[in-house]
Amino acid sequence: MEEYKIKSIEEGLTKIEFPEFDKISSDAPVFYNPHMEMNRDLSILAIQVFQKEQQRELNICDLFGGSGIRGVRYKNEIDGVGDVCINDISETANHYERHNIELNNLKDVHVYQHDASMFLRMKRGEFDVIDIDPFGTPSPFLDSAGYCARRDSLLCVTATDTSALCGTYPEPCIRKYNSKPYKSEYCHETGIRILAGFVALTLSKYAKFIEVKMSHSTEHYMRLYLEIKKGSKRTDESLKNIGYISHCKHCLHRQTSHGLASPIDEVCPVCGEKLVHAGPLWLGDIQDEEFIQKMINEADNKKINSKKDALKLLNKCLIEANAPVTFYDVHSICKSLKVSAPKFDSILDELINQGHIALKTHYNPLGIKSDATIEDIKNILIKLNNI
Ligand SMILES: C[S@@+](CC[C@H](N)C(=O)[O-])C[C@H]1O[C@@H](n2cnc3c(N)ncnc32)[C@H](O)[C@@H]1O
Repeated sequence: MEEYKIKSIEEGLTKIEFPEFDKISSDAPVFYNPHMEMNRDLSILAIQVFQKEQQRELNICDLFGGSGIRGVRYKNEIDGVGDVCINDISETANHYERHNIELNNLKDVHVYQHDASMFLRMKRGEFDVIDIDPFGTPSPFLDSAGYCARRDSLLCVTATDTSALCGTYPEPCIRKYNSKPYKSEYCHETGIRILAGFVALTLSKYAKFIEVKMSHSTEHYMRLYLEIKKGSKRTDESLKNIGYISHCKHCLHRQTSHGLASPIDEVCPVCGEKLVHAGPLWLGDIQDEEFIQKMINEADNKKINSKKDALKLLNKCLIEANAPVTFYDVHSICKSLKVSAPKFDSILDELINQGHIALKTHYNPLGIKSDATIEDIKNILIKLNNI
């Protein structure tokens, strides 16, 4: 093993060491990204909540170990964890994973060196939690995850190819997720829905289906926590959540249509212009109020450095649970109307006064999730401009 200068860091209750590097990149001898600390902290909360709900010992798979920080933290910081398997294709990563297991005096944490898909194929039904945190897209590994995942397990998925999922480059999204994206002002939500839809469709061939417990789009990545259930009838039922979002670039109206191959309106019912479509994607819930509330409560029991930011995000996701699909971006609409943006809270108040749902969203500080139509929203913006 090559000699490296070692860097030590602490996250939560765990100490981790790995070779020092100049730049965060996949070229580092062992990958570690400090900007993902909140992602790891939220994973600790989500897995702990899941463990308490299941009331059983959890065996966890950290499929892309890197320094081993996830697997090591999960064993060290979550109650009710049995065996943890840390896998990585890199021998150098394996070396530091073993080192970090020892550094934290842990038992029942095992290190493997396999291609991720091969590993999941070999370990069918052995894990209660599978954490997929790859470079870029999780797409090539999801079929094996579907094969491996047991009934009533938790699948945690990170994607850092947000430009594909958000539609900056449509072709990679079609290639990797078999879904057409559209770069609208709510494209991060569309991206989460494309990823969830792809997981649901991939798992369905194994008669497994998903319930989204929590999801978020933060900085350069998206993350999903999915409970995996089994049963062909219920999988068929669950696939009714697959559909399309249609958007009018001209007036900013949007609408959804359920079904993989159901007829979709081609013309905007508001202004008569052509609609553009994104999908297939997941139109079902992408936040679970009860689960997120339990994650918020669990934060009191854990030592996590990102607590303030994690709680801020969780509280926003909590508000989004049960909210309508997509959101309105106040700036975009004001720009199209050539009016200035009124105070954000006054728009929310006016919507609520008119009997509509009006909720903030974690995707955008000037985003509003509402059941109001684009015309309702425009009328309110014009009215508030004239006061
Ligand atoms: C993004 S890093 C993992 C980061 C880690 N989970 C963390 O939180 O710090 C991705 C890791 O996957 C490993 N890897 C890349 N391709 C792989 C494959 N096909 N199978 C298994 N591991 C792979 C790399 O060696 C790298 O350590």
